[in-house]
Amino acid sequence: MTSLSSIPEGFGLETEVVDAVARDRAVQRCRQAGLRLPTFAELADPPAPAGDVAAVDPDAAATANLWRVNWFNDASRAGRAEVPEHVVVPPVLSGVDSPIILLLGNRFPMIGAHKVLAAYSCLAPRLVTGQFDPTRNRAVWPSTGNYARGGIAISKIMGCRGVAVLPEGMSAERFEWLDRWTSDPSDVIRTPGSESNVKEIYDACAALAEDEANVILNQFCEYGNHLGHVTATAAAVERVFEHYAEGHASARLAGFVAASGSAGTLGAGDPLKERHRSATAVVEALECPTLLYNGYGEHNIQGIGDKHVPLIHNVTNTDVVVAVSDQATDELGVLFGSTEGRKLLDRRGVGDDVIAHLDDLGLSSICNLLASAKMAAALDCGPDDVIVTVATDGAALYRSERAKAVETAFGGEFGSSEAAAVADRWLNGVDTDHVLQLSDRDRDRVFNLGYFTWVEQQGVDLAHFDARRDQSFWLALRDLVPVWDELIAEFNARVAG
Ligand SMILES: Cc1ncc(COP(=O)(O)O)c(C=O)c1O
Repeated sequence: MTSLSSIPEGFGLETEVVDAVARDRAVQRCRQAGLRLPTFAELADPPAPAGDVAAVDPDAAATANLWRVNWFNDASRAGRAEVPEHVVVPPVLSGVDSPIILLLGNRFPMIGAHKVLAAYSCLAPRLVTGQFDPTRNRAVWPSTGNYARGGIAISKIMGCRGVAVLPEGMSAERFEWLDRWTSDPSDVIRTPGSESNVKEIYDACAALAEDEANVILNQFCEYGNHLGHVTATAAAVERVFEHYAEGHASARLAGFVAASGSAGTLGAGDPLKERHRSATAVVEALECPTLLYNGYGEHNIQGIGDKHVPLIHNVTNTDVVVAVSDQATDELGVLFGSTEGRKLLDRRGVGDDVIAHLDDLGLSSICNLLASAKMAAALDCGPDDVIVTVATDGAALYRSERAKAVETAFGGEFGSSEAAAVADRWLNGVDTDHVLQLSDRDRDRVFNLGYFTWVEQQGVDLAHFDARRDQSFWLALRDLVPVWDELIAEFNARVAG
């Protein structure tokens, strides 16, 4: 039996309205904007949108786009799909017999990445409990890019002020987007370093938190992020798997794989494991193997591998750690995006239907694909063992990175011999190097590593930190979802009333 009494205090996890004035201002703001907030249940199983949503540009700052913050957008991103968009990667590309299925995150609205789901899942509970007054508070979104963009998008359509905090070294495309979506330059805070410099982001947030008008929605310790994926991403994965199983009666869901940035997406692995007995794998960059080897370093798999163990990572329910090199993701990014690369894949028997999806894969998506193959190989998975993972964002966010990789890795020239060399190096057979199947002792080691960030550095209460070792903590958290959904429904009734 789980209980809401074990929910930690001080993380915004309120179960009732704590400030009716702030809540009423939020109601007022949503009424002006014509907004109805989706419940968590609706993020997982979205109703048919009201009105002519199909005519609304999925990339506009339009309130209707809140109804597209789910996995059920079709390829045009304007219409609704019966089954979340996905690609089944065949053995000829993955190098393993197991089917690897990638859910396509670039179908999400406004930012072309699934992190807008995490942003909404963090802000909505605060709005409906009166912990965020859109007329007074600024929503601060610390991230390595996509979550900050998602937060800015959600803030904008809800008519509140958002601030993106991200490392200066992230891709040019992320900053160009932020320039378009923010009007005040002080709403984009560039912290020193690149992908794995998360401590610098925390420091910037600590300074911002001194102004009590700033509400820091830190995805790395926001359980709303975890719960959004427990609810919506797990449901989407199951829908895709069931669809696949309709044509493959002996298929079983053997694994769920996700690279960890905030570890939000990984949350989907928990309910999937309960229902399918699937193994959950966390992925990181080989150049920054924090979970695997307590390592550190710079890498270019943007969005993941932030040199720490996020507070919302359910480590003791994680089965496998896999590391993938950013050389592989950078070089395959070039191969997948180039004419020569595509011709070569075509000659090697990769079908047009799969080649057509290669633009749906950003760097961390390629990383997840490679990690899924490594996991399948390490667990001796066969053709009935389906591994599901996510393509968080697509190639469109990395054009500048690809141009850089052509220069640095290939001296400015990427022709047929370079394409063949890349394919031979990274797609010619799968190895199980840097894959660790976690024993209880390994899980404890990884879990304990989080102590230094959360208890020593960020001042999290030790009892709360330790409670996360036990699965009862994570199960109790899930009891928040129906409570929040009732509060969202009540909030919507006030907006309509
Ligand atoms: C491109 C990309 N891939 C993967 C991730 C990791 O997802 P999560 O934060 O849910 O662990 C992120 C997170 O920002 C991302 O932006």
